[in-house]
Amino acid sequence: MNDPKIVYFMDNHPFPFPEEIAQKWVQQELDLTREIFAAFAEDHWRPAKGSPLKVIRETIDSEGANKRDVYVGDVDLRHGTWWSERLTPVQDHWEEWRDKERVFSIGAALKPQYHGRGIGSTAMDVLFNQWGIPIIGCTEVRAGTYTSNVRSLRVWEKLGFVRAPGIPETTVIVQKEKIGGEEGRVEKQCTLIWSLP
Ligand SMILES: CC(C)(COP(=O)(O)OP(=O)(O)OC[C@H]1O[C@@H](n2cnc3c(N)ncnc32)[C@H](O)[C@@H]1OP(=O)(O)O)[C@@H](O)C(=O)NCCC(=O)NCCS
Repeated sequence: MNDPKIVYFMDNHPFPFPEEIAQKWVQQELDLTREIFAAFAEDHWRPAKGSPLKVIRETIDSEGANKRDVYVGDVDLRHGTWWSERLTPVQDHWEEWRDKERVFSIGAALKPQYHGRGIGSTAMDVLFNQWGIPIIGCTEVRAGTYTSNVRSLRVWEKLGFVRAPGIPETTVIVQKEKIGGEEGRVEKQCTLIWSLP
């Protein structure tokens, strides 16, 4: 995740990414995953507290019987604590157990050599449709992306996200270190939203 070609599109990721924040992040994700698995062990599957699906890996066959895993990217679906208010109405017909208050955030970041091969679309489809909706019980999910990020926009669009009404685009100055230039670059950030029908 310390690759300027990836973090260019992630305005909340400083570059270079400080190691102590990375370590804290890994620990936090490990703790959450253990908590989720402990709940499964007690047969408490849903609502899950979060997603244990985090990393995409490619398994490479090497000489002999050896196989090795190569890191492809991260996927993320979590309670977006930075949003306090829902933008979409709660529906009476939703099941009782669903999360009707919290707003969730979804995102992905793959290493550049894996872009444009359908991996992001497939991974997000699994995370969202096979985990977020049926196991976490999400009813409102948002994604933030630059308006120039056509792949990302298309991934969310295919999952049923639309531009969030009432949330204006914001101007983001991409850190100059991310583009290796003298000055930052201007991007427009938009928010997409999905709500359970
Ligand atoms: C955004 C990201 C996760 C998408 O994953 P991906 O595997 O590259 O995307 P996919 O190959 O599944 O393509 C998604 C869509 O974009 C289209 N697409 C791919 N490359 C494209 C290009 N160069 N121009 C236009 N459309 C393109 C694909 O055709 C597909 O649409 P379709 O299914 O209608 O054909 C990935 O590119 C990435 O990690 N980017 C850097 C980090 C980032 O931007 N994260 C998102 C921040 S919200």
